[in-house]
Amino acid sequence: MTQKTYKVIQWATGTVGKAALKYFIENPVTELVGVLVTNPEKVGKDAGDIVGLAKTGVICTDSEDAILAMEADCVLFAPSMMTPPIDMVCRLLESGKNVVSPAGPFLPNKFIPEHAARVEAACRAGKASFHGCGIHPGYSGDILPLTLARLMSRIDCIEVTEIIDKVRNPMIYTEIMGFGADCDELLANPRRSPETYKHFYSSMTLIAEGLGAEIDEVTVKFEVSKAKVDIAHEFGLVKAGTCGGQHYEWTAWSGGKPLIVYHFYWQLGTELDPLWEQGEAKYRVRIHGDPPLECHLMAMEDADGRHPFLGIPWTGLVGCTAVPQVCDAAPGVVTHIDLGVVQPRGLVRR
Ligand SMILES: NC(=O)c1ccc[n+]([C@@H]2O[C@H](COP(=O)([O-])OP(=O)(O)OC[C@H]3O[C@@H](n4cnc5c(N)ncnc54)[C@H](OP(=O)(O)O)[C@@H]3O)[C@@H](O)[C@H]2O)c1
Repeated sequence: MTQKTYKVIQWATGTVGKAALKYFIENPVTELVGVLVTNPEKVGKDAGDIVGLAKTGVICTDSEDAILAMEADCVLFAPSMMTPPIDMVCRLLESGKNVVSPAGPFLPNKFIPEHAARVEAACRAGKASFHGCGIHPGYSGDILPLTLARLMSRIDCIEVTEIIDKVRNPMIYTEIMGFGADCDELLANPRRSPETYKHFYSSMTLIAEGLGAEIDEVTVKFEVSKAKVDIAHEFGLVKAGTCGGQHYEWTAWSGGKPLIVYHFYWQLGTELDPLWEQGEAKYRVRIHGDPPLECHLMAMEDADGRHPFLGIPWTGLVGCTAVPQVCDAAPGVVTHIDLGVVQPRGLVRR
C-alpha cells in the first residue's frame, strides 16, 4: 500500500524533541528534512546521532533562516519556554509550513487573544495550520476525558490528576520547583505561578466545548507537604521539615458547580506529612456522574518493575501522530475537535 508522505522539520531536541525526532526518522510516512538545535555541541551532527539511530544524512543546524527557507510540510516546534515562541511560530506559518507545538499556551485561549489573532493571521498568510500538542495540557486533560465521556449517561464533574513521585522519576527541575524550600515561604511564593492554569485553559475549554457547557471561572488552590525525614533524590537532598510534596488544584466552575478539576500531586517518596497520593506515575481521570468511571493512563511495567513517567515523550508523540491530518487540514488553528478521530499513519510496520 502506498502512503502519502510528509516532509518534516524537528525544531529543538530536548526531551520532547528527541522523542519526536526518533519518531520522524523511524516512521515511513514522515521524511525528516531539517533539525534546528541551539546547543553548539549538536550543530553539524547527523540527526540520527542525536537519538542513537543510523545516519540520516540530515545535519543539525542552528540557523533559523536556513530552516525557514526549507521546503517542508510541517515543523514540530519544541523549544524550551525560556523564550516566548509566538514570533517564530508565526514566521514558520507565514513561510507556508504547518506547525505542531507543545510550547506555550495552546490556542484558542481567551487569556491570550492577541496570540490567537496573530497565529490565525499567520495561518492565513501562509495557508498553513497550527495545532497545539501535549500530554497535559493536552491529551490526558482533554482528548482522554472527552473520549471517556462517550461512556457516560450523566456527567457531574471530571477530575484529571497527574501523580509523579520524583524520587522514582527523577527530574532536573525538582529544586527549582521548590522542593527542599521552607514550606511557608513556598506557600507565599509558589514556584509554579498561580497564573499557570491559563496555559491549561485551552484543554479545559475543549472539554467544555465538547460537552456543550460553559466555564464561568477557574479557581486555584496550592498546598504543600513536609518531608518527615531527609529525602535523597537524583538531583539533590531535601531536608526533613522542608517541602517534600506539592499539590496544585485548578477548578473550572460551570453553573455554580465544579465541572473540571485538574490536580497535580508531585511528591518525593512517601515519608511526607500529609501523604496525599501514592503509587506509580500516572494520569488518572475520574468522571463523577452516572455511571462513575475511573481510568489510569500510565507506562507498562518495565524490566525493573517500574512504571516510568512517560508524560514528556508522550507530549512529542501526540503531536507526531497528528502531523498528517494537520497538514491535510484547511488553513487555520486546528483543535482536537477539528481533527476528529486522528488516524495515525505508519505506526504498524510489519
Ligand atoms: N503540554 C505538555 O504536556 C508539555 C509537556 C512537556 C513539555 N512541554 C513543552 O514542550 C517544550 C519542550 O519541552 P522539553 O521537556 O523537551 O524541554 P527541554 O528538555 O528543556 O528542551 C528544550 C530544548 O529547547 C532548546 N533550547 C534551549 N535553550 C533554549 C532557548 N533559550 N530558546 C529556545 N530553545 C532553547 C534546546 O534544544 P537543543 O538541545 O536541540 O539545542 C533544548 O534541548 C517546552 O516548551 C515545554 O514547556 C509541554
